[in-house]
Amino acid sequence: MFETLSKAPQDKIFALMAEIAADARPNKIDLGIGVYKDDAGNTPIMSAVKKAEERIFATAKTKTYVGVAGNKGFASAMVKLALGDSVPLDRVRAAQAPGGTGALWVLLTLLKRAKPDATLWISDPSWPNHKPMAEQAGFKVAAYPYFDPATGTVRFDDMLAALDKMGPSDIVLLHGCCHNPTGANLTEDQWDQVVASMKKTGAFPLVDMAYQGFGDGLDEDAYGLRAVAAQIDEFVCATSCSKNFGIYRERVGCSIIVAKDPAQADIANSQMLNVIRGAYSQPPDHGAEIVRIILEDDALRAEWKAELEAMRTRMIENRKALADAIRTRSNSSDFDFVAEHRGMFSLLGLDLETITRLKSENAVYMLDDSRINIAGLADERIQRLADAIVGATR
Ligand code: LMR
Repeated sequence: MFETLSKAPQDKIFALMAEIAADARPNKIDLGIGVYKDDAGNTPIMSAVKKAEERIFATAKTKTYVGVAGNKGFASAMVKLALGDSVPLDRVRAAQAPGGTGALWVLLTLLKRAKPDATLWISDPSWPNHKPMAEQAGFKVAAYPYFDPATGTVRFDDMLAALDKMGPSDIVLLHGCCHNPTGANLTEDQWDQVVASMKKTGAFPLVDMAYQGFGDGLDEDAYGLRAVAAQIDEFVCATSCSKNFGIYRERVGCSIIVAKDPAQADIANSQMLNVIRGAYSQPPDHGAEIVRIILEDDALRAEWKAELEAMRTRMIENRKALADAIRTRSNSSDFDFVAEHRGMFSLLGLDLETITRLKSENAVYMLDDSRINIAGLADERIQRLADAIVGATR
């Protein structure tokens, strides 16, 4: 049977994770997969999460099924967190999904049913899983210009020109905030222009919001999504709790549909539930229940927000420290853009030869497009990384 298959390509993020684990050098610097790490290199469980888990442990009375849409209180709280008051709730439907990736997969499958001939546009570059996922859902995939590695900034004019040429048979995947892999994000004014273009052309927005709260703040990071909601009457959004609640392995995300009217919302929702039932029947509850408890409880919510804020500000400090350390050593502003980027990632614009040399000579691991995860850097590692980058790029 399996002789009919050839070997599938390995996901480069997980391949790098295995390569790093196999490197015995004690001073290795892991800038790979997108998990938050504290100064000691650990990915801690947030205290609000621990408390919510203790509450579940003490009070839960059953493990019976929850239903195809998953935890309803969770989904309502996630809609509010992402959309705020930007859209009337009678046009919104949401389902819990296994992680942001699961949420995205459910929505891609739904969109394929709704518009089988659409072209799915992703940014150039984008998260390495976007293209394979869209292709697996059966879409033709194309890329719109996004990032200029020479300056570390968004190629906004080129992006807008590409969007202006689209039409109703185009679906545009937009990173809600904290662009992965580049770290370069749209300004509020640029978001407004993107939304105006899509409103004019009829292109359909699919917003991937995996890092809300990791950029400029929970509401600030939702600016683009809410601008879409205020102007465009139908779109979808995949959100994730992996990063902002630090519950990566629990796999918690949410698929959100906004439709033109309540009747269309009901139809789209019935299709979404049909997709879920036919794939994994219903999502696992534990992680979603943690998030529901936190978001519905004032004290726990405040505790979580403070922890999230501490992570967010530390990442910004890391960015500044790395940009400063490189500038001091190189006497150039070539990497100053790192301090302007937001979220976990920055794309440094290094070539593969330099990336390979950093790996072999300095035990510095980044993705092969030069994406680095800024969150894992304690001060001593920042200084060593700056030495290595300046040494390798001289
Ligand atoms: C990443 O980009 O490193 C994260 O989103 C983890 C993943 O699933 O790829």
